[in-house]
Amino acid sequence: MVSSSSSSSRSEESQPLLSSASSVRSSEARSKLDLLSSLLLLSGIVTFVGSTLWIVWGEQKDPRGNLWFSLHPTFQSFAIAGVVLAIWALQPTSTTAPKEKAQAFKAHRSLVLSLVLPSIILGSSAMYYNKSSHGAKHFTTWHGILGATTLLYLFVQSLFGLVVSTKPLYNVLGGKAKAKSFFKHHRASGYVVLPLMLFTAHLGGAHSTWALGSAGFGWRVAAYWVGLPMIVAGLALRVRAGKMKFL
Ligand code: HEM
Repeated sequence: MVSSSSSSSRSEESQPLLSSASSVRSSEARSKLDLLSSLLLLSGIVTFVGSTLWIVWGEQKDPRGNLWFSLHPTFQSFAIAGVVLAIWALQPTSTTAPKEKAQAFKAHRSLVLSLVLPSIILGSSAMYYNKSSHGAKHFTTWHGILGATTLLYLFVQSLFGLVVSTKPLYNVLGGKAKAKSFFKHHRASGYVVLPLMLFTAHLGGAHSTWALGSAGFGWRVAAYWVGLPMIVAGLALRVRAGKMKFL
């Protein structure tokens, strides 16, 4: 007969094994979900950017004659792809893997500086110039108004990110440790600026007079009703709630 004390000590012995087995299972499930959501997100980017390029350069009657306009959706879609990839690069990193974290941060920073900002500046100035060149009024639609607001927000967000992560600059905030404590605000704010960009693109690509007149129904649906939601779903599934703590 097995005594109660020996059975309880046996169950104690098996406890760590059980809990470590279940934590292995849950981390395996987590990495499968991460992989699936990455595939969803990358397919969303290809669908959104690919269909936008096709609408502008394949379906529009005279894309070269309409060059300043054509540059707008082209570069804005590159900027969006850049922001999505820059966030994606940081999402799975953990504080226990500093090397992985540093590489992800480097990728994030390079994408913002070399793809997102140049593209958004080119795309937005092209549209502003296009309207000015034929005397049209600026910021007359919801897309234009939200676009200008989002643009401003993106610059503030990028500048803040640069300040909190660059040596001579973060001294302004009181040093490295203090600057690091601002990271969480930059992270949370990034999850505001991206939906704003995506919604702006949705308004311009699915509802504007240009979109309704120049884009075929199928491509319009693919880019702005399918591609953009796929990006949102892919990113949302990879969010780690634990990184969002503010207290
Ligand atoms: C691929 C996605 C996009 C498409 C298809 C698109 C399309 C258009 C169209 C048709 C216009 C002219 C009509 C209007 O003034 O609303 C326009 C203007 C504008 N767009 Fe976009 N857009 C896209 C993405 C964006 C993004 C992501 C932003 C900013 C973050 C943006 C910012 C603006 C601004 C500020 C204007 C107005 C410029 C002015 O009035 O001078 N667009 N866009």
